[in-house]
Formats: sequence, C-alpha cells, structure tokens
Amino acid sequence: MSKKLYIETLGCAMNERDSAHMIAELEEKEFYSLTDNPKEADLILINTCSVREKPEKKLFSEIGQYVKIKKQGAKIGVCGCTASHLGDKILKRSKAVDFVLGARNVSKISQIIHQKRVAWVDIDYDDSTYVFSQNQHSALKGMINISIGCDKKCTYCIVPHTRGNEISIPADLILQEARRLVDSGTKEILLLGQNVNNYGKRFSSAHRAIDFTQLLNEMSQINGLERIRFTSPHPLHMDDNFILEFAQNPKICKAIHMPLQSGSNEILRKMRRGYSKEWFLNRVEKMRGLVPELSIGTDIIVGFPTESEEDFLDTLDMLEKVRFDTMYSFIYSSRPHTEAHHWLEEEQVHLVDEYIAKERLNRLKDRHKEILTEDNAKQIGKIHQVLVENYDVQNLWLEGRSNTNKLVRIRTDKNLIGAMCDVKITEVKGAQLMGELV
Ligand code: 5AD
Ligand code: SF4
Repeated sequence: MSKKLYIETLGCAMNERDSAHMIAELEEKEFYSLTDNPKEADLILINTCSVREKPEKKLFSEIGQYVKIKKQGAKIGVCGCTASHLGDKILKRSKAVDFVLGARNVSKISQIIHQKRVAWVDIDYDDSTYVFSQNQHSALKGMINISIGCDKKCTYCIVPHTRGNEISIPADLILQEARRLVDSGTKEILLLGQNVNNYGKRFSSAHRAIDFTQLLNEMSQINGLERIRFTSPHPLHMDDNFILEFAQNPKICKAIHMPLQSGSNEILRKMRRGYSKEWFLNRVEKMRGLVPELSIGTDIIVGFPTESEEDFLDTLDMLEKVRFDTMYSFIYSSRPHTEAHHWLEEEQVHLVDEYIAKERLNRLKDRHKEILTEDNAKQIGKIHQVLVENYDVQNLWLEGRSNTNKLVRIRTDKNLIGAMCDVKITEVKGAQLMGELV
C-alpha cells in the first residue's frame, strides 16, 4: 500500500506551485499518494506564508491540532516562508515537528523526509535549474515558475528574507515545461514569480538571456496553447514594449495584476516602490487605451507607518480613477527583517492606531464593493470568451473564467469541460456573471 501525504497550503500562488512540486516529487520518488484526510496521512506538510503576522502566529496551534489527530508514527514537516523565516526555532518550540524546509529548498523534499529533526532553510540555495518531477494529473490550467526570489527592497516586505535573491529560470527550461504541459492537455498557463516582469536580469549560469516580453512572445508561439496569464508583475517594469506585446498578443489574457500598495506618493516613497501615482496612472491609461476591456487587479496596504488621512484619501482617489476589478487589501503588519520594522523598533516612526487602520480598510472595501456593483452591471449583454473548467450537474451550469479572469456561469445542460466558449452575459450576481452560450 502506498504511503499517504496530506498537505496544507497557505499564502500565494507561488506556494501553491511549490506544493504541487513537492507532491510530484513525493509521488514519483517516494511513492506517496495524496489524501485530503490528515487522520490517515503518513506525512503531514504545512506549506506556510509569513507575509503577515497572523497566519504565522497560527502555525503552532495548527501543529497542535494535527498532533491530536495524526496516526501514530506519522511525520509532520513545516515548509515554505515561515519555515525560512523561523528555521530551527520551529523545532525548538514544537517537539512534534520532524523537519523544517525553507521556501527556497523545496527541491530537497524527498531527501529531508528521511532526516530527523533538521531545518534546511538556506536562502542562497539555487534550484532554478532543478527539473522537478512531473505532476501526473493532466489539467486544463498549469503553473510555471519563471523566477525564484525577489531583488526588490520594499520596506514592508519579508519575502526577500524568506525567498532570497531573484534568479530567473532558463527560458529553454520554461518553454520545454510549457510544451510538455500543452502536450498533456493544458490550455492555459500561469507564469509565476514574485516580480515576473523583471524576468531575465540574472541567471545562475550562462543561459540564453531574454526578457519577460520576449518570453511571453516565444511562449505564445506554442501550438495548442490558448491562454497565457502571469502574476505578479511590478508596475515599475511595465515598459512600452511590454504593454504593446500584452495588448497585441491574442494569447495573453487581458487581465493584469498591478499591486499599487498606496495612492500617496509620500507613502510610496517610504515603501520604496520606485514609482509615483502619476506613473501608475499613466501605465493604466496606456493599457486601457489599447485594451478597453482590460481587467485590472491590485493589492493595497492601509495603515503603513505615518499614513495620514490625507495619504489614505490619495489611495481612495486612485480607486476612483482606476476602478480596480479585483482588490486585495490589508492592514499593515510589521514584519521582522524589514526596513519599516527597524524604523518602528528605533521609534523613528509609529504604527497607525489599529482602530483608524481598520476604519480605513472598511472604507476602502465598501467603496470598492460599490464600484464593482456599478461596473459589473455594465457587463450585461457583453460577450466573453470562457474556458470551461467545471460542470455543476445539480444546478445545470458550467463554470469558467473569462479572458479577463471573471468567474462566469453558463446555464446549459451540455457538459463542455475544456471547451473555449463564447458566452453572452445575461445576469449579474455580486462579482459573478451568469450567461448563455452564443
Ligand atoms: N503587511 C501587510 N500587507 C503586506 N503585504 C506584503 N507585506 C505586507 C505587510 N507587511 C501585501 C502586499 C502584497 C501582498 C502579497 O501582501 O499588498 O502585494
Ligand atoms: Fe507567498 Fe510571500 Fe506568503 Fe511567501 S510570504 S507564501 S512569497 S505571499
């Protein structure tokens, strides 16, 4: 009987991809099979996120929960960003943890499971040319890492500390992986990196150096590949060349994530984002000029140290001007090893009062909800191209994402999973669009 693996994944798409890599390695090299029941697992992995303090704090209570229900002899491993960040402190604090594997070390998963009480968290480790085992389950949508780590020094962000310096994965390996996925039935590929559009700046050894725009172009020439998405790009690196390729290449989906973080130039400077609100707006206008249906997503942090009401109003003003289609918003959380954390420790700056930060977050979210309701209503009658991913037999509808990444349900009794369909929107329910085949 094969051994069972249970894996819990927190955090971003990068962590999801890392989990998929670890699953494939353990299936192929160690003969594990995946279970969704931790009680029957021989190995429990928690792939952690440390971008904000709360999930990190929850880690130890979660380990406690697993200890209560796990099979006798089952191992527990802590992987990912909190593993990088806390390292062997996790082993010291919890006797139940068998090993700790940092976010930059996932390629060592099949070795570390045979070790006792070790922490492998080297953030200089380079697995940019490691060829991971292949996931056996063919899927309509695939993910490919194009770079690891991050070279930016945003003053709030712990990621450079948990994932190390940025290294690009050689283009030929990426394209080979894309061809393999397409041959096994994948229609849509999501390219991943902390800073995808900085691709090509540094490779670990001599490789054909191309930039992100060229990579998109070469990937789009793969026959059978229908859609390309990517996340997360940095607004600073959205040059004209990139915007033209993005706009003109029909395989590149017309949805882009542009993490604004703040609408105040003063706060952007303190965050060390490298752009102004004027630059951000200029990029948005240029893209929307070329792609009117473009969907724009963003991330916003409220309550960054020193943020005044006026700074926050600048953020609200950017929301009015851009009318983001999706918005993830967070209250600033002070993270160790970041510059803003040092400013706070040295009392050069102070945290924004928690009550004020919460109130700002609510105002931002409320206004965004109103904007979405107004903008979604304009979708009625529009035609979207949808890649069908699910068939809900009970409700008799198909589910998929439009090219602009909106969730669309299609009323029909036909099972069209895998098909690319033109759909006319007839109804809007919250953020979700209902439609019919045309
Ligand atoms: N506090 C709050 N939010 C943060 N993010 C990153 N670091 C922090 C922090 N210290 C948010 C940013 C980023 C998203 C992934 O998480 O908005 O884009
Ligand atoms: Fe992803 Fe950042 Fe969280 Fe790590 S800390 S899992 S890179 S969001």
